[in-house]
Amino acid sequence: MVEVAVEHFSFRPIEAADIDALVALEKIAQESPWGEQSFKRCLNPTFSGWIVDAVNQPLSVESERSDVDDSDAENTICAFAIFQAVADESHLLDIVVDPELQGQGIGRQLLGFIIDRAREVGAIAMYLEVRQSNLAAKSLYLSMGFLEVAERKNYYKTLAGEMENASVMMRAI
Ligand SMILES: CC(C)(COP(=O)(O)OP(=O)(O)OC[C@H]1O[C@@H](n2cnc3c(N)ncnc32)[C@H](O)[C@@H]1OP(=O)(O)O)[C@@H](O)C(=O)NCCC(=O)NCCS
Repeated sequence: MVEVAVEHFSFRPIEAADIDALVALEKIAQESPWGEQSFKRCLNPTFSGWIVDAVNQPLSVESERSDVDDSDAENTICAFAIFQAVADESHLLDIVVDPELQGQGIGRQLLGFIIDRAREVGAIAMYLEVRQSNLAAKSLYLSMGFLEVAERKNYYKTLAGEMENASVMMRAI
């Protein structure tokens, strides 16, 4: 398993045991949250899902010290993202940062990490859809080099039950 430590965060692949926590996080962060079945589908090998754990205490797993007690180490999921790669294209399907931790650079780090993973599996471009009203996400994507390439009419439902257009964005990776 690939594990990359970044300061006090670590990235790891999504596993079946994470699904309940991801459904809960999705519910508090997204206007039209994915349900359990959507996450289960993403465990299929054509998808690649990654979690950012906040490591509340340094893990001692790789420590040579036998006297270090790591039983209190606690990892909490603070963000996740999922992409699908088909041939040389990748599609960012979901990216969420815990609302209490937003605005601290986690989303930017996670998206950079996801782009690297997509490139590693041979993708040369990444596509995504975003609600036109989602200014925080659009601003993140624009600042990371994504360009608006198309519009999908009535793609999302709003909380008020109306339909909202999506911007399709793309960047070479
Ligand atoms: C979009 C999201 C993933 C960004 O994650 P984040 O950790 O808050 O973002 P970061 O702190 O890394 O900020 C990166 C950039 O995003 C933009 N951004 C983040 N929050 C913003 C806000 N409230 N308003 C405007 N722009 C914002 C800015 O461009 C920011 O760059 P800057 O800090 O240089 O100004 C997060 O807001 C989120 O989970 N939103 C709910 C789920 C969602 O909408 N996902 C996208 C679906 S397409």
